[in-house]
Amino acid sequence: MKFKLLASPARWRIFRFLLAFVLLASLVTSYIYLKHRPSYALYDTLANHEVSESRRFIRNSPDNKYVFFRQLQGAGFNNQAQEILLFHHLALLTSRVYVYQPIIWRPRGSEATVPLSAFIPSITRNSVSAAVFSEACSPEETRRVDINIDHGALWEDTKQQLSGDEKCIVVENWILNWGFLASDALHAIWPEFQKYLSAHFQWSDPIRAIAARAQADLTLRGPFNPEGERYIALHFRRGDFEGHCQSLAEQQTGFTTWATLPSLSPSIHSPTLNTTNHTSIIDHCYPALHRIVDLIDAQVRDKPHLRTLHVLHDGAWDHPLVYAQHYRLAATLTNAQRAREAGWVGGPMKRVTHSAQVPIQWGEADWAVAVDVELARRAEIFVGNGYSSLSTQVVALRLGADGGRVEDVALL
Ligand SMILES: *[C@@H]1O[C@H](CO)[C@@H](O)[C@H](O)[C@H]1NC(C)=O
Ligand SMILES: *[C@@H]1O[C@H](CO)[C@@H](O)[C@H](O)[C@H]1NC(C)=O
Repeated sequence: MKFKLLASPARWRIFRFLLAFVLLASLVTSYIYLKHRPSYALYDTLANHEVSESRRFIRNSPDNKYVFFRQLQGAGFNNQAQEILLFHHLALLTSRVYVYQPIIWRPRGSEATVPLSAFIPSITRNSVSAAVFSEACSPEETRRVDINIDHGALWEDTKQQLSGDEKCIVVENWILNWGFLASDALHAIWPEFQKYLSAHFQWSDPIRAIAARAQADLTLRGPFNPEGERYIALHFRRGDFEGHCQSLAEQQTGFTTWATLPSLSPSIHSPTLNTTNHTSIIDHCYPALHRIVDLIDAQVRDKPHLRTLHVLHDGAWDHPLVYAQHYRLAATLTNAQRAREAGWVGGPMKRVTHSAQVPIQWGEADWAVAVDVELARRAEIFVGNGYSSLSTQVVALRLGADGGRVEDVALL
């Protein structure tokens, strides 16, 4: 009896505690969900607009020739964006209308899609949505081709096949595969692709608006915020890369896409990448903090005007340790004594900002990755990871779309 009398309030306390915990957990879950809640209405509007514009374009230009490529389904946003840009470029080079497909958007589920115009509407202009491909091309007018994926010959072979008179061509095999994107064959494409980027690449209005807002809020200098501070951007690629880098090391894989450009080899942190050496691959793909610090030392030691660092990272609720590493890095780089010992002229970093501080509002979460790319593109110096498609996309935009200098790019 006595026991019961004592136990009841204790049990009640536990019950209240559990209740409070469950309530809190559901609040956090719904917050995360709502923050990421897709703006379905906006996407429906964009998808409908894509279809009506495509129909108008098909109607108004009956002599068009079209090409539909088999595209990567899934992977990260930048992997898809890089491929889409190359396909669009190939279509324009061969005077064909690019038949574009939506972005596969994993954060919403493995099959979820987002209209391409939500991200890069410039590609959808004078192109046709895959949703109405059959209205442009009957099966009788369509030739289906398989292209020999020998890396060295692939690009020219594809151009030749697409130069035919057929009204519509469907490329049935996946031509821009990982091996091709890591191969030297890409180097010959670069001069033309730079021109393509500068003529045809533009983010959507919301992405540009969020990037401008971020630069204003974080006092970072950019075209919309000339009063902000000049900054160096670091792509701190962690998250799932720990395991990914191990498998890349086992497969002896080198850098991806534009990070392999010979003009960038002086920008790569020494010792040089040796793809037959496991340790070397890990050093470049998943660098220890001291390697990152060394590289930043080398970039800013003699540049006292550059004392703001913006870190793009992938810390999230499923990768909480990335935050711990980020704060360790920030503490190291803002340490006055260490800066002195490392020979920094003009003292340590004054400010370190990072991805989680980008003012993303409700319903904007899908754009965060593109905003990260844009903030790194606008930085005075960019320190990236040659194994990452985000980093190499930043490099492509800086050097290609903006005519930037390789000296202002460093790769880990
Ligand atoms: C690359 O690494 C392999 C194995 O670790 C080594 O045998 C080779 O000498 C290295 N090559 C260079 C150029 O350092
Ligand atoms: C492999 O790379 C690491 C890191 O760059 C280096 O320290 C080591 O000497 C290399 N091993 C060989 C056999 O070249």
